[in-house]
Amino acid sequence: MDKLVIRGGRKLGGAVPASGSKNAALPLMAAALLSENGTSDLHRIPDLKDIRTFSALLTRLGAVIDYDGATLSIDAGNMESVQAPYELVKQMRASIYVLGPLLARFGHASVSLPGGCAFGPRPIDLHLMAMEKLGATVTIDKGYIEATVKGGRLNGAHIDFPISSVGATGNALMAAVLADGVTTIGNASIEPEIVALCGFLEAMGADIEGTGTTTLVVRGVRSLGPARFSNIFDRIEAATLLTAGAITGGTVRVTDVEPSHLATVLGKFEEAGCSVVTDTESVTLQSPETLLRTDVIANPYPLFPTDMQAQWIALMTQAKGISEIIDRVYHERFNHIPELNRLGAHIEIRENEATVHGPKRLTGTTVMSTDLRASACLVLAGLVAEGVTEVLRIYHLDRGYERIENKLLALGADIERQSYQEFR
Ligand code: UD1
Repeated sequence: MDKLVIRGGRKLGGAVPASGSKNAALPLMAAALLSENGTSDLHRIPDLKDIRTFSALLTRLGAVIDYDGATLSIDAGNMESVQAPYELVKQMRASIYVLGPLLARFGHASVSLPGGCAFGPRPIDLHLMAMEKLGATVTIDKGYIEATVKGGRLNGAHIDFPISSVGATGNALMAAVLADGVTTIGNASIEPEIVALCGFLEAMGADIEGTGTTTLVVRGVRSLGPARFSNIFDRIEAATLLTAGAITGGTVRVTDVEPSHLATVLGKFEEAGCSVVTDTESVTLQSPETLLRTDVIANPYPLFPTDMQAQWIALMTQAKGISEIIDRVYHERFNHIPELNRLGAHIEIRENEATVHGPKRLTGTTVMSTDLRASACLVLAGLVAEGVTEVLRIYHLDRGYERIENKLLALGADIERQSYQEFR
């Protein structure tokens, strides 16, 4: 296994580019299954473990994938299977994204239930509800979602989501584009990742109205063709790198970004006393003498992202005063708190609300986490902790951050990847 060894205390400075977005890339890859012939080319696909896991799943279904570390080409012309097996789905919950495309194209899908999640319950009822609304019969059998549609073709319907779900919106879209008739998706997610998916589906020939709004109207078409599409940048990675600048008292510029996707987070950096300058495709953050406390509530886009909650808590350990951080998307997503406290933070947790008492001097030790963003939070804490912090099990980090240690090294951090053996 690999760990990151960080000697904290260096002010970061300089410029680094953001990578392509993982969370946008996965539904784009799933959508490519909707084309019966030809090859779709997806550009700016980050070289990440999750991308390789999802590629393995699509390959198992019979798609032919070629990936050079940036452009991922998918030929789904000769699909052989509609079954997404447990051994692949369990590695990544986003595998559920194949449900909509398989059902829409083949009239049948068999997708393993994803199983538990490190940060609390993550149901898939809304994905299933959307498929049923579109005319599918859905049953759960031996741990698998079995979805079929009579006559092989879904029917347009009105789908109204009771809560905002990125994944369920994506699945509903990918199913509706090949359905007979018109589908309306109410309370749709407006995350940039969903906007990107709409863009790719349209390039494939789909008819979608209302992109970027909470009401999507999809007029089903008979078939879709392959397309080329450039993925969006990773707003969470970009915000994490900016936080690395802020937590170390440095000045960091992240390029290759769409600043509007980061508006709420950038506003919070300003509230914390940082100076933030944006141009068309970069953000520069300059730290203040003293970081100020801020309260944050994680909510669906365009509000503060739950995927930045853990990193923000790390930042607030260095801010003056008491910060309240609430997560309204995932109420139990707080695995990082005990580990931050082991580094010297003073954070209390009550239900879905963390109270961070800052500033606290952090001192390095060995820490470990059980999910992606919590790992990022511990790396950030390590950058400011005195002495050496070792972050174990960074395979979580590798799922969603493309060579993060190289980016932090480029900004002047003292960080190194080492392999180690874990004894159980
Ligand atoms: C995506 C992101 C994840 C991010 C999350 C919220 C990917 C691959 N992952 O996950 O990084 O943290 O959005 O921004 O893009 N819910 C239900 N029933 C469902 C589906 C969701 O109750 O069928 C709930 C969830 O438990 C959660 C909320 O809806 O409380 C939002 O989840 P959702 O937007 O669906 O998250 P994901 O798409 O799984």
